[in-house]
Amino acid sequence: MKSASRRRAQRGLSKIPVLSAAALAAIFAAGLAALLVNIAERKQEAKVTTTRLVEVTQDTTDPAKWGVNWPKQYDAYKLTAQPTRTRFGGHGGSEALPQEKIDRDPWLKRMFLGYAFSIDYRDRRGHAYMLVDQENTQRQTKPQTGSCLHCHGSVIPLYRELGGGDVIKGFETTYKIPYKELNKKLHDMGHAQTVSCPDCHDAQTMKLIVTRPAFLIGIQKLAASQASTPFAPSIERWRATDKSRPYDPNADATRNEMRTFVCAQCHIEYYCSSAMPLTAPWGKGLNVDQIEMFWNETKMPDGGRFFDYKHAETGAPILKAQHPEFELWSQGVHARSGVACADCHMPYARDGATKVSDHWVRSPLLNISRACQPCHRMSEDEIKTRVDLIQTRNNELLQRGGVAITALMDAVLAAKQDGASDAQLAPALELQRKAQWRLDFIAAENSMGFHAPQEAARALAEAIDYARQGELAALRRGAAKVAEARN
Ligand code: HEC
Ligand code: HEC
Ligand code: HEC
Ligand code: HEC
Ligand code: HEC
Repeated sequence: MKSASRRRAQRGLSKIPVLSAAALAAIFAAGLAALLVNIAERKQEAKVTTTRLVEVTQDTTDPAKWGVNWPKQYDAYKLTAQPTRTRFGGHGGSEALPQEKIDRDPWLKRMFLGYAFSIDYRDRRGHAYMLVDQENTQRQTKPQTGSCLHCHGSVIPLYRELGGGDVIKGFETTYKIPYKELNKKLHDMGHAQTVSCPDCHDAQTMKLIVTRPAFLIGIQKLAASQASTPFAPSIERWRATDKSRPYDPNADATRNEMRTFVCAQCHIEYYCSSAMPLTAPWGKGLNVDQIEMFWNETKMPDGGRFFDYKHAETGAPILKAQHPEFELWSQGVHARSGVACADCHMPYARDGATKVSDHWVRSPLLNISRACQPCHRMSEDEIKTRVDLIQTRNNELLQRGGVAITALMDAVLAAKQDGASDAQLAPALELQRKAQWRLDFIAAENSMGFHAPQEAARALAEAIDYARQGELAALRRGAAKVAEARN
């Protein structure tokens, strides 16, 4: 191929002497001039987009002000108010509120009995709604902590004020403040915005920054642990230093890592209550077993065992999982290959001489040509099919997990009705905790297994195994009771 085209090119060249040297020079000059004009125009375009018309600071939480300087990013950011829909993602439809997850999967509701999630637990939707959806959830009928705001509003100026200038100090006071009180303060200060430009950007340089205290503290603990972190090479580099200062993502992380970390400020597993500050459980690593180990070693402030709630029917001390997108992603092949959240959820689009990141954060399946095709040279249909296969298989395993956990709860209830004591049922209840943790981890994660398909399948397989072991333990207890009664 190459030599054939070169031959064609040479044949073309051989005709050139027919043209006069003067004509050639004129054509060349015109071409060069056009090129220079084009370059100048593009440079100008690039400059215009970074010229500041208004001054913004870290306390400017109103995105409209930033939007004057960076209209393209702001216009896309506003689109997060649009309804979107995919088979497993988004929220879609025209209904005022997203669908209830707990109605679609009744076993979820049963798993959460005894906890506010059994009252109201819906599909997520776009960033534009994060604050109002939190203010309006029926889960607010139970007293909630100020920690909830950490991931649902532009809270950093509020934290700064509460801490007398120290954001982390301010944050550490918020778990004791009731949600409604802290939320009112946020409104009164004029910062009732959903995630906003200064939450991810330095106002001076526009470089990416991470601002959320729970993330900063959690990632420090991860760095200080022994867990391997192939998805974050800067942690491994920091570990090779004398560690005289703690790992600081804002100083140590690469630009590429920051394209994930800005999202990992919120799309993570956490503990959030008025008992202790909001905690990201990363001190032993990021996979489902390492996080379970971390929670198992955590004590409540009164020294008691750590759990999120006691299951209303069985009494098992349950761990509730929350949207562990960062954690599941970290176990997948994309993370290992350095593919960041923003690569798929905020892909670049070319705009003249500049690249603009799509600030309409949403399902990448609505934007496959930009989100996937720069790396995967296959048709859009083929990409869609591959994702659908992963998600369908994951959903089938998940539903089997739902059947298994229901069988466990049924068996425990039956044993209880036969008079088995809590102590006798302890092994079954421990297995409920383990099974439910793994099942909920994948159910609460929002990619339906896509972010790390094999890891998700592993967690679900173990969940099903633990649930059936728990069911057997309860059945054995019940059988022993019946035998006792006969003797
Ligand atoms: C390789 C591409 C890719 C990367 C990297 C990636 N995601 Fe995803 N993500 C997806 C796909 C595909 C889905 C499934 C979307 C669907 O079902 O509509 C998804 C789903 C989601 C959803 C639910 C979306 C919805 O519309 O309901 C969230 C939230 C999410 N990802 C967050 C993250 C975060 C946070 C990170 C980084 C820690 C990340 N993703 C990294 C491809 C990616
Ligand atoms: C560490 C960050 C973080 C904290 C803390 C947090 N959330 Fe969220 N929340 C999220 C993310 C990310 C989503 C979107 C993903 C999802 O729905 O799974 C979400 C979704 C929601 C939703 C919409 C979906 C649903 O569950 O019905 C509500 C309502 C909500 N959160 C309420 C709360 C309340 C109440 C608290 C305090 C108990 C809280 N959040 C604390 C990050 C957080
Ligand atoms: C300050 C916390 C926060 C940050 C930072 C954040 N998110 Fe979210 N995200 C949320 C919450 C909360 C929701 C759910 C809002 C609701 O349901 O009302 C959400 C929803 C989503 C959705 C679902 C959108 C839809 O249309 O259904 C996706 C996808 C998503 N986030 C991806 C990301 C990515 C990628 C990043 C990083 C670029 C990111 N988020 C950064 C808190 C956050
Ligand atoms: C959830 C985090 C997040 C929020 C909120 C956010 N951005 Fe960004 N922004 C990003 C990411 C990620 C990039 C890509 C940076 C990179 O590749 O270095 C980016 C890039 C940019 C850039 C550089 C050019 C480009 O498009 O890649 C500008 C300018 C920008 N954002 C403006 C804004 C403005 C204005 C707002 C508020 C309306 C905003 N951003 C809100 C995460 C965010
Ligand atoms: C920045 C590059 C990049 C982007 C963007 C990207 N991928 Fe990938 N993807 C990879 C790499 C690298 C691998 C690892 C396999 C390899 O090395 O060939 C991979 C593997 C996969 C696999 C097989 C592994 C698995 O987890 O099952 C699927 C499926 C996949 N990608 C789908 C997607 C989809 C869907 C999108 C868009 C939402 C996407 N990818 C975006 C680079 C990318």
